[in-house]
Formats: sequence, structure tokens, C-alpha cells
Amino acid sequence: MNLRIVSLLSAMAMTVTGTMAENIHISTPGTSLVVDATKGEPMKFLYYGAALNPSDVGNLTFGGASSLNAYPVYGLNPEREAAFSAVHSDGNMTLDMVVSDVTTRTDSDGSKVTTVTMKDKVYPFTIDVNYRTYPSEDVIETWTEASHSEKGTVSLTRFMSGYMPVRRSDVHVSQLYGSWANEGRVEEAPLPHGVKIIKNKDGVRNSHTAHGEVMMSLDGKARENEGRVIGAALCYGGNYKLMFDTDDSDFHHFFAGINEENSSYNLKKGEKFTTPALAFTYSEEGLSGASRNFHRWGRNHRLAHGKDLRKVLLNSWEGVYFDINEAGMQQMMDDISSMGGELFVMDDGWFGEKYPRNNDHSSLGDWTVDTRKLPNGIKGLCDAAADKGIRFGIWIEPEMANTVSELYEKHPEYILKADKREPVLGRGGTQVVLDMANPRVQDIVFNIVDTLMTRYPQIDYIKWDANAPVMNHGSQYLTADNQSHLYIDYHKGLEAALKRIRAKYPDVTIQACASGGGRANWGILPYFDEFWVSDNTDALQRIYLQWGTSYFFPAVAMASHISATPNHQTARRVPLKFRTDVAMSGRLGMEIQPKNMSDDEKAQTKKAISEYKDIRPIVQQGDIYRLLSPYDRKGAASLMYVSPDKENAVFFWWKTEQFANQQLPRVTMAGLDPDRMYTVTELNRIDNKPLPFEGKSYSGRYLMSNGLEMPLSHDASWDKAGDYSSRVLLLK
Ligand code: DGJ
Repeated sequence: MNLRIVSLLSAMAMTVTGTMAENIHISTPGTSLVVDATKGEPMKFLYYGAALNPSDVGNLTFGGASSLNAYPVYGLNPEREAAFSAVHSDGNMTLDMVVSDVTTRTDSDGSKVTTVTMKDKVYPFTIDVNYRTYPSEDVIETWTEASHSEKGTVSLTRFMSGYMPVRRSDVHVSQLYGSWANEGRVEEAPLPHGVKIIKNKDGVRNSHTAHGEVMMSLDGKARENEGRVIGAALCYGGNYKLMFDTDDSDFHHFFAGINEENSSYNLKKGEKFTTPALAFTYSEEGLSGASRNFHRWGRNHRLAHGKDLRKVLLNSWEGVYFDINEAGMQQMMDDISSMGGELFVMDDGWFGEKYPRNNDHSSLGDWTVDTRKLPNGIKGLCDAAADKGIRFGIWIEPEMANTVSELYEKHPEYILKADKREPVLGRGGTQVVLDMANPRVQDIVFNIVDTLMTRYPQIDYIKWDANAPVMNHGSQYLTADNQSHLYIDYHKGLEAALKRIRAKYPDVTIQACASGGGRANWGILPYFDEFWVSDNTDALQRIYLQWGTSYFFPAVAMASHISATPNHQTARRVPLKFRTDVAMSGRLGMEIQPKNMSDDEKAQTKKAISEYKDIRPIVQQGDIYRLLSPYDRKGAASLMYVSPDKENAVFFWWKTEQFANQQLPRVTMAGLDPDRMYTVTELNRIDNKPLPFEGKSYSGRYLMSNGLEMPLSHDASWDKAGDYSSRVLLLK
């Protein structure tokens, strides 16, 4: 029976006590979540995993010794961790929530929302637990809405987006952690007893040090293409907390939501508190399978312009840093245009009249062009770009100011700062964060984009940066009793500004950058087309950075640029071929001064850009299969993208270590149609002779069971042959 037909169907079943249980089936094509929403009882968790048929759904009972609430609240049985806690206006710290209603609706995007409404048995306090499904995605989003009609204010002290009990067996959790220029490193470990918390308190950038997404491999050590995996991604750009509580029961209790630390929220009568969504997926095809589910859902439903292809661009930052001037920008535009690029982005350093932005000590907030550097202004650059047949993009950092700026001189009240205290200052010794909780500041942020786009409608791309954490707990706008709202209201305010921007400028491409990879999260991406994966552009380290990031985010959103050698972050010398082959596995761009490239390198890059355009739909819209992990330290790493119809694929292989006569594993491919024949073409070839399998056709079955043997090095001149060999193969 088609499971979609029974989607959201309620099956009736008898509970042990004889009351009628109402099993609510939240279904996607390949997965099922079942809760018991019997009226007058707490909502119970029954099942999450592979798709069930109606008979299974109806007959489900909870297997464990005692039942588990599907959204546990604090107060009665307080020895357990809870997803939600509140202090009522009379000081009572308990909640006792029972189901009062279950409703479903279909939204305009075709998604279905099931809402289980729970009411407190004594207080006029309501929590709606929502589940959203899409007709063709194996992802379920859950979030909650709390409201009350008590006389006074209710203080919310914990407000998780969702809870999921995970049966104990040999569950391994894969998480991403790191720091600036080293984001998204994969760490995998079995779940220990006690509490494991993954959290962020930066306030602005929430994915440098740890990510708000995890993979849970249910059958022991994580494998890429086999095994049961639950993936969870919190869709939030602010402070978060993911928590695993492994107590004396048979379950790991997983919670995820806004980090409640220093953030209790005073909810007035009639107001609604809405948590961000937590997205779950389940796959029996290992980590890569869970990634594919997140990627498809993200491209189709969350990422701005997720189904569109991205332009090949040159960004000016590593090429000239703050040294912006018209001749330099013209030269870079000439160069990227002559290499076949489609867009030029002018990074930091173009603005500031009274205080020119020559370094990071001043000018944020003063978004007027510095005509000493750009006598013909932005208009001149847009026109020049058009003449060269490319588009123009620009860098801004709207949520920030420097204390050395005209904005701060006129409006010191717009910054985050604790009352009676001097502000703590950030980057350049003068950077401060604007108070996004203040509607006036939200207007300013909107106006920065609005003014640029109104004056220069040719602007095609905005790089939106954010280079500071919340350094001062203090809003000059919020009242004294609501100071604890700061972290949450900052992100509400940011989202309000972004919504206005997107409503007026739906077509402009916007990159989320936050000191590199500080804003890789599904909360912010509905407003952004992509994110800067890291300020680290070293090709070898990028293999690791992009590997982990691809657990949750698709290549179309991952900006991946060819940069100079020696690399500016690691000082490593890496041949152009390798740098190109790594960058081409994401959204290809350049982060380099092309003036310093040789003619030979420019020709090589021109060819690569042209070949990238051929594989762009496969890389940016295809299904990822990670094959050989760099973290396994086998001397190489490899992944591939397969077009949804399985007609075409691109195989990437990079050597990560160089030893004489080393033995590398042969990589078997995945995701192909076993019965289809694929013809192999090497891209970016530098070898004197083609590979032995060049131009030959092989069945998907052979490629997936045997694979192709990659030579240890390149058949090329001495300087290109040895270290860092890499291959990109197109299979058609
Ligand atoms: C930090 C970003 O990550 C860089 O790419 C660059 O835009 C600088 N900021 C500019 O100040």
C-alpha cells in the first residue's frame, strides 16, 4: 500500500489500560514517526525509523518498561531532563501537559503540518507541538509554540525545539567541531553515560566551534554507505544546545533547541513563543544517505534559490585584502572574465568617507563609497562589469559598527552594551555589535541593502559578513526586566530584517559569511544562497573542512575557492591542479590575485572553469556519495556526485599523503545504476598520456564493485608529478 495515502492517518489501538489510544502517523516516503496523542493523556513517543504500514502503525505499543513522553515538560518527575520548563506567574515551577487536540493542515508549498495541542491540567498554558512533512522528502521538521492566558507573565526557562528518544545499542554520534579556519571537523564517539552537550554561546556566529547538527549511527561505528542513521539539524542561527542524556533507562534522550542559558523569556498573556525547527532524517544508507536526505530537503525547501545553479566568481579578499582601488578592481574583473568566470565580488575596504576603511580599525556602519579609492563609485564598477560580460557583487557587514565610525558617533545607543559599563570591543580593537533587538537598528540593516540595491540595481551578489560574537550582555533597547531576551531577540530582529530584504529583493544572491564558516546552519539559509565554508582556503585542509560540512549541507551552498600558493592560512604549497580539483567539488570560485598567476596557470584555470560549467548541475544538484574519508587516514579521500536520474556522475579523488611506493586502497564507487554503461572522461588533465580507462565505458555494477585504479602520481613534469595528485572523472 502506498504509504503516502496513509500519511498523517490516525490509527486507533487499545492501550493496556483499555482506553483508546490515538496513534498519529507522521510519514514521509521512507520514514515514519508515530506518537500516541490520546486526549487527556500526555503525548507519548512510539516510534521513529523506516516507513511503517497502517497495520504496524495501529498495533504499535511502546516496547520499553515505561512509556516516554514525546515532548517532556518539567515539574512532575523532575528527576528526568525535560524539553520545556516554565515558572508560572504565581511562582509554580511545574507543568502537567495533556493532549487536547490534533489538527492537520496543508501549507502553500505542499507541506503538511500536524499539530498536537497540549494543555496544562491546571493552568491556562498551551504548548503546540508541530510536525511538518513534505510529499517527497525524508525529513520531518518539528517545533513548538507556547502561549498562555495567565494573569501575569510566565517565565520560560527551557524551550527545546524537539526531543527524540534513541534506543540504546551501540549508538555512535558524529558531530562537527572546530574553530576559526578549522571549522567542521568530524568527531565520532559512542555515547557515554551521563549528559553530553553540544552548545554555542557566540550570539552571532554559531558554527565555528561546534555545529547544531549531529548524526547518530545506530549500529556501531559510523559508515558512509551502510547502516541505520538518524540525522538531526537544528534550524537556528543563534545560541543552541544539543543534549544527549543517557540515564538508567534503555534510551539515550536527545534534545535540541535554543540554548536557554542567560536567556529566560518572559511571556505575556496572549503572546506566543515559537521555537526554531529541528529537522530529523532517518536513513538505512549510512551517513551519506542521511546527508542526501538533508541536501534534497534543503535545496528544495530551505536554501534560497536552492534549485538554481551558482555563478563562478572571483572574490577580491585574498587577492588584495583592504587595498581596494578602481584600477585594481578593473584588472581583477578583466582577469576573471577572460578566464570564463561569471561574477566579480568586491570584498571589504570600499567604504567610509570620514573614516576610510583601510584596515579593520574603523568604518563599519558608514556604508558610503570611498570615492578616493573608487572615483566612479559602485556605478562605475557595475558598468565595467557589464562591459566585460560579468556580474558585480559587493561585501557588507550590516550587523556591526566600529566605535571609529560616523554611525557610532551619532548613535552610540544602537550598539549592544551593558548598562553602566564600557563596551568590550572586538576585531581591530573597535568593533561592536549592533542591537538587532532594536527595530530602529533593523531598519538600518534593511536600509543598507535597500540603498545599495536601489542605487545600483545591477548588484547581483552580496557577501554578508559578521565578524564578532556578542561581547556584551546588554541591550540598550530592551527594558531592564527583559535583558535576558537579548540573544533570542537579536535573532528575531535579524530575521525580521532579512525577511524584508528578501521580500523586496528576492533575486539577489546573498552569501552568509561569519569570520569564515560561522554561519553554516539551516536557520539562516532560507535567506541566503550559500555560505563561506571557512576563511581557510588551503586545498588539503579544505578536503577535511568540506567533508564534514557536507554531512548536512549541499555543494550548491558551499563556497569553495581556488586560492594562492603558498596558502595564506597554512603556508602550504599546493599545485594548482590539486587546488582546482578540490574547489570544483563545491560551488567553484576564486580567491586569488589573478595578476600573479602565470599564463599557463590562467589557461589551466580557464579550462577548469569551462569544464566545471559542464559538471555544475551534477555537483550542485546531484546526490552525494562520500566514498573514502580523509579521517580514515588511508592516504586518499574520495567522493562523488550522481545526477538524480543516475545518467551522469562526477568522481573526485585526492591524495592526502605522499610516500614512495605507498599502497592506496582502490575506491569503489556508489550510487550508480548497475545496469547502465558509463563512459569515463578525465577533467583538468595535466598528464602527458590519458589514463588507461579514458574514453572507455564501464557498467555501473563494475564501477561500484571494483572501481577504477588511480595512479599514485601524475605523468607530468617533475614539479607537477609527485605530491598532491588528484583526479576528477566525469562518468556519462
Ligand atoms: C572575514 C571573512 O571571512 C573574509 O572572507 C573577509 O570577507 C573578511 N572578513 C573581510 O574583512
